[in-house]
Amino acid sequence: MEAAGKTVRYLNVGDPVACGFRTPPHLVAAVERALRDGHNHYGPSPGLPQAREAVAREFTSRGFPVTADRVLITAGTSEGIELALNALVDPDGEVLVPMPTYPLYTAVLAKIGARGRYYRLDPARGWMPDLEHLSSLVTPATRALVIIDPNNPTGAMYPPAIRRALLEFADRHGLVILADEVYGDLGYDGPVAPLGSLDPDAAIISFSSLSKGYLAPGWRTGWMAIGRSPRLDDLLRAVKKLADGRLCSTVPMQYAIEPALAGDRSHQASFRTALKERAALTVSRLCAIPGISCVAPTAAFYAMPKVALPPGCTDEDYVLALLRTTGVLCVYGSGFGLPAAEGFLRIVFLSPPQELDGVFTLMADFTREYLGG
Ligand SMILES: Cc1ncc(COP(=O)(O)O)c(C=O)c1O
Repeated sequence: MEAAGKTVRYLNVGDPVACGFRTPPHLVAAVERALRDGHNHYGPSPGLPQAREAVAREFTSRGFPVTADRVLITAGTSEGIELALNALVDPDGEVLVPMPTYPLYTAVLAKIGARGRYYRLDPARGWMPDLEHLSSLVTPATRALVIIDPNNPTGAMYPPAIRRALLEFADRHGLVILADEVYGDLGYDGPVAPLGSLDPDAAIISFSSLSKGYLAPGWRTGWMAIGRSPRLDDLLRAVKKLADGRLCSTVPMQYAIEPALAGDRSHQASFRTALKERAALTVSRLCAIPGISCVAPTAAFYAMPKVALPPGCTDEDYVLALLRTTGVLCVYGSGFGLPAAEGFLRIVFLSPPQELDGVFTLMADFTREYLGG
């Protein structure tokens, strides 16, 4: 479409830097300094000691006490998740994964030859996990429970009662919790406490990175913190072994971790304010379109509206027609595993408000025509 001269508006990738948000200068300076100082060598495979210590201090100060020897620096949240799943799940093992899902889990489990068992997040209840459905999916092969909170693709944040119920559920069934907390700093009303702070002795591994809260997704720099439960000791050893095999994650970028976690975080307050404003605009404009409804997000930069599609029509039909007609590109809900007839799509609302305003006008005009109104 671009080659044909049409403007495409990218509302499909969760990359704040691509939408004009800037990496904090003190983090860029730290990486620049590391490059100039010649830190272009391999590093220790679990990560630089000062970076691991900074992560351990960060979790500990937020109520989830971990020691630096249980922290690994990874190529983003993504690599941590892959290392943990590889260490934990055998072929034919099962992992409980939220639906709609973040597609990395499906891909890694497929690579291992393991199975994702998908528990419903319920749009009628603000995209909260359906605990009854979750319980019905446990089998003797279940190894782990993935919790993405705050959530992509829904923008939901789980209240303490739900978090506690998930912890109790995992404990009852002897499951390891993989807590994907990459949006933990992006609750609109402030950072979210790590899940591990509710029960520091639970079998929890927490994952995060510089990608979202520190506006440096291209650096591929993140971390995993393996809780102090002795049940995780073997897993820690296995993850370290796997990490040895891939040598190390990008060394110069690891020099930004300590300044990120211990230094100036003022960018986060303004980022959260910008997200809250865009979320409000997104929800009010979408809900004003006849045939579209949308749960209001409370964190991160995603909304998951639903279009009341005519019978026989799929979410992909709607999204592709929207793209071809208006140039607006978002992701259909079936890309996150939802039934195609339900009509969900995910919108990334990182673009400037005046641009979003134009996008929603295009969507309103298109949807009126599409639904025959
Ligand atoms: C829920 C979730 N987990 C993990 C990732 C990957 O993040 P990273 O860049 O830290 O690998 C993303 C990125 O969008 C995400 O939304």
